[in-house]
Amino acid sequence: EFISEIKGISKLEESITNRLGIKKTIIIPSQLQSDTDFVNDMAKAAGRYFLSEIKGHKTIGITGGTTMYSFANCLPQSKKQSEVTIVPARGGLGEEVEIQANNIAAMISKKLNGNYSLLHVPDNIDKSIIESIISLPQVKSTVEAIDNIDMLIFGIGNAEDMAKRRKTSFEEFELIKKKGAVSEAFGHYFNIEGEQVHETSTIGIKLDKYKELKDIIGIAGGKRKAEAILSIARINSNLVLVTDESAAQYLLKLT
Ligand code: BG6
Repeated sequence: EFISEIKGISKLEESITNRLGIKKTIIIPSQLQSDTDFVNDMAKAAGRYFLSEIKGHKTIGITGGTTMYSFANCLPQSKKQSEVTIVPARGGLGEEVEIQANNIAAMISKKLNGNYSLLHVPDNIDKSIIESIISLPQVKSTVEAIDNIDMLIFGIGNAEDMAKRRKTSFEEFELIKKKGAVSEAFGHYFNIEGEQVHETSTIGIKLDKYKELKDIIGIAGGKRKAEAILSIARINSNLVLVTDESAAQYLLKLT
């Protein structure tokens, strides 16, 4: 029974990879487990894949969120030193401190014995203020590091859920909905076609940078995120998706 379960999962992985037209899919079987268990299982699988691919990478961008927090938490502690630098892919201090990208970058770099560079910039600030903050030396070096990332590991959110979590104003929330946003990733909102329809005003990875990345690992599961996953998959086909069976089953229906 175990073998047929594995065969089923690898078939599903293959179907999702083909339907979404992405590089690779890793699926965690949905057992009767709690939400936190499946997130941890995805995080562990993503960690194993990440460690197998890390060689040759110098600057790795990461995002915040509960899934990425679990990723950092589940990553095994390395005994060796690493030259790698971990950077938050964007600012955004609007969330609980544990799940902010800064904290997660520090956690991951400690697990790898590497370096990190932090970005202390809040979300939703005026464009003119962003300009002046970018010129501050500590911010400038991190912004340059973000421009130089050669790998990104990120969470994917359901657009409405993320807008609510980010305490978006009523007007902005309505606008995001009106523009047909289904997903949110690294502060950008996308429609089902993977076109950007909105961007949180803060400092962080630019969409053009994301589009040219060769190594990207997106971690997101649960049926509620299926549409969001589909939309993100359409932006850059180099995506390696780590998800769970329930999202995958729903993705089959959508594609
Ligand atoms: C955010 C990331 O912090 O977390 C986003 O910047 C992502 O890329 C979101 O959409 C997902 O959060 P969670 O808690 O569902 O993993």
